[in-house]
Amino acid sequence: MTRVLVTGATGFVGGHLVRAALARGHAVTALARPSARVVALRAQGVHVVEGDLVTGRGVKEAVRDAAVVVHLAAAVKARSAAELWAVNRDGTARLVEALAARRVPPRLVHCSSLAAAGPGGRGPVSAYGASKRAAEDAIRAHAHRVPSVILRPGIVHGPGEPALLPALLPLVRLGLVPRPGRAAGRYSMIHVTDLCAALLAATERGATVRHDDPLTGVYPLSDGIVHHWPGICAAVATALGRRTPTVLPIPLPVMTAIATLAELLGRTRHTVPALNRDKVREMRHPDWTCTYDAAARDLGFTPSLTFADGLRAALAPEGSDLP
Ligand SMILES: NC(=O)c1ccc[n+]([C@@H]2O[C@H](COP(=O)([O-])OP(=O)(O)OC[C@H]3O[C@@H](n4cnc5c(N)ncnc54)[C@H](OP(=O)(O)O)[C@@H]3O)[C@@H](O)[C@H]2O)c1
Repeated sequence: MTRVLVTGATGFVGGHLVRAALARGHAVTALARPSARVVALRAQGVHVVEGDLVTGRGVKEAVRDAAVVVHLAAAVKARSAAELWAVNRDGTARLVEALAARRVPPRLVHCSSLAAAGPGGRGPVSAYGASKRAAEDAIRAHAHRVPSVILRPGIVHGPGEPALLPALLPLVRLGLVPRPGRAAGRYSMIHVTDLCAALLAATERGATVRHDDPLTGVYPLSDGIVHHWPGICAAVATALGRRTPTVLPIPLPVMTAIATLAELLGRTRHTVPALNRDKVREMRHPDWTCTYDAAARDLGFTPSLTFADGLRAALAPEGSDLP
């Protein structure tokens, strides 16, 4: 039995990954901040080490007996760039340093993001993307000690997805969806089940990152389809049994103004809106696509589920209870 340490197990991808790992007969340890979801993890038989990647609490204990580590924990949105850096770069550095201190460091699989590569692979354009890239760099700095694989998925969809679908549903029901800027955005997507299969495959195979080479051991991941924004909106409408919504181009300065307002409103409610200025920085760029060729070759990855599959599962009555 392999003991897998999962960070971010209380999140969207983490919930699915824990179930997939347990289904394969692995033992799972989760490094997690206290919350209701920790209780649910314990009920599944997960060994939970309560801790925090920002303070470092629990990290040493969590890594102690892990045979492999899947690092999903991240701030995907935050009130400030400092918060993104603290969790994504510094938290990752803290984890990898703890792994490097083991006599024989276990294999690390890091869930990065296409945002770390940036549009067309030309470098990050948002604070989130830059902080995820810095996390990769922190891992690469320890490549001589910790064998690590980095996966860079596009937009992840499926049951429990907390950002895109909840934002799109009311707009599609209204029949009117904004499109940021003039260009029709192109996106890579991946079903969360396929992402989890790739993450678990990477615990066993695939090239590991090298200190002197930014490409080896880094695997972009998608379903291999180029999704256009109007097509994404139309697919949601079909899944809801609604008519295809009108997609209305909104000038980027207007998007920025809306995002600023949403952030101000969020401050009063102590929440961070899915539409924020950092996300608008990403929306300025139309090309967020990648292929999965390297993952197919080295990880044996084949996407098996479509966006329509993800929508069906997410909209099923039991889908809302996940992760
Ligand atoms: N969702 C996507 O479309 C997508 C696309 C590309 C890449 N990714 C990457 O996939 C990974 C998982 O994303 P997700 O969508 O599952 O995000 P999520 O639902 O927001 O989950 C984030 C997880 O990180 C944990 N976390 C945050 N700060 C932490 C800290 N200081 N110490 C310990 N744990 C902390 C959260 O714990 P709490 O429950 O305590 O907050 C939660 O379990 C991330 O690395 C993300 O960058 C996601």
